[in-house]
Amino acid sequence: MKYLITGGAGYIGSTICSALEDEGHTPIILDSLITGRIEFTRGRIFYQADIADSSAVEKIFREHPDIQAVVHCAALIVVPESMAMPYEYYRENVAKSLELFRSLRDLGCKRIVFSSTAALYDVVPGFMVTEDSPLKPISPYARTKLTMEMILKDFCASYGMRGIALRYFNPIGADPKMRSGIHVKEPSHIIGKLVDTALGKQPVFEITGTHYPTRDGTGVRDYIHVWDLARAHIRALVQFDETFARAGYPAENYLVINLGTGRGVTVRELLTAFEKVYGKPVPSRESPPRPGDVAGSFANADTAERLLGWKAELPIEKGIADSLKWGELRKSILNFE
Ligand SMILES: NC(=O)c1ccc[n+]([C@@H]2O[C@H](COP(=O)([O-])OP(=O)(O)OC[C@H]3O[C@@H](n4cnc5c(N)ncnc54)[C@H](O)[C@@H]3O)[C@@H](O)[C@H]2O)c1
Repeated sequence: MKYLITGGAGYIGSTICSALEDEGHTPIILDSLITGRIEFTRGRIFYQADIADSSAVEKIFREHPDIQAVVHCAALIVVPESMAMPYEYYRENVAKSLELFRSLRDLGCKRIVFSSTAALYDVVPGFMVTEDSPLKPISPYARTKLTMEMILKDFCASYGMRGIALRYFNPIGADPKMRSGIHVKEPSHIIGKLVDTALGKQPVFEITGTHYPTRDGTGVRDYIHVWDLARAHIRALVQFDETFARAGYPAENYLVINLGTGRGVTVRELLTAFEKVYGKPVPSRESPPRPGDVAGSFANADTAERLLGWKAELPIEKGIADSLKWGELRKSILNFE
């Protein structure tokens, strides 16, 4: 089956493409390469265009009328950048997604899987969030995601489309076959910083925030292997209609599903696990929280199991090992110095 992946030249989109291919499906990539990498599109059907370019989207559907569903991953994703450049984030993420959804509506494409984020959730006692937990997106980036969820929900209610918003927790690792992984030169995510410290590219790993009400004072997150995340998309795509049937609300055209492991891991615990996998200590020091940091959350992932028949399978050690392996390989794959 053919599936359109916007942002398919990015970290998560390219992993979804690999997982689709491994299952015998054909991914079609729509990506402007604003941040993504051409290397991840090699050997794949690839259209270099903006998601808001309706003529490009029309061309894709003219040339591939048998596309079954769309995964919408394309977005700008850097939280601090979104605080410095909210206009660009709302334009790139919200305004352009609105145009993409309109094109899909006009072309009769009725199945949409949307990349959302756990950054929408407020901090709750015990830190475990279900899809019904209170929301409190604290960055412009997270607010663009909530706005896109609302737009998709409204489109689904009015235009006979169906949408599944997948709220990702904290992806780590790389494609286990090393076809792709994190591609930004200076990763802002915790695992990228740990890898950079281990590989000597940064002198020390900062444990930012040590006075949260968690078991060891550091922030808690739910680290999910990107391959598990990709596998969940395959379930949502291949069993799209069945997922709605399982939800049991015939009138419902829009679903929200958490994608996490169901386990909360603190920064100190991640550091310990990382050092165990790496086999050497990583220099670290405690520092104050960064602006906008929160104690965190982890997923209640029961809905994913019930509706998608999916559970995260890969342990955190595998995510760390694949991040390290990719961290060493990516220099040659992406021609970094
Ligand atoms: N990485 C994470 O930690 C994380 C967590 C939660 C949710 N998400 C969501 O997952 C999705 C993918 O994230 P990622 O980590 O793979 O990011 P990424 O930056 O690696 O990939 C995004 C891709 O989208 C493309 N793109 C951006 N704007 C575009 C546009 N207007 N038209 C066409 N292409 C465009 C980029 O070129 C890039 O290839 C995003 O929507 C992000 O919000 C990511």
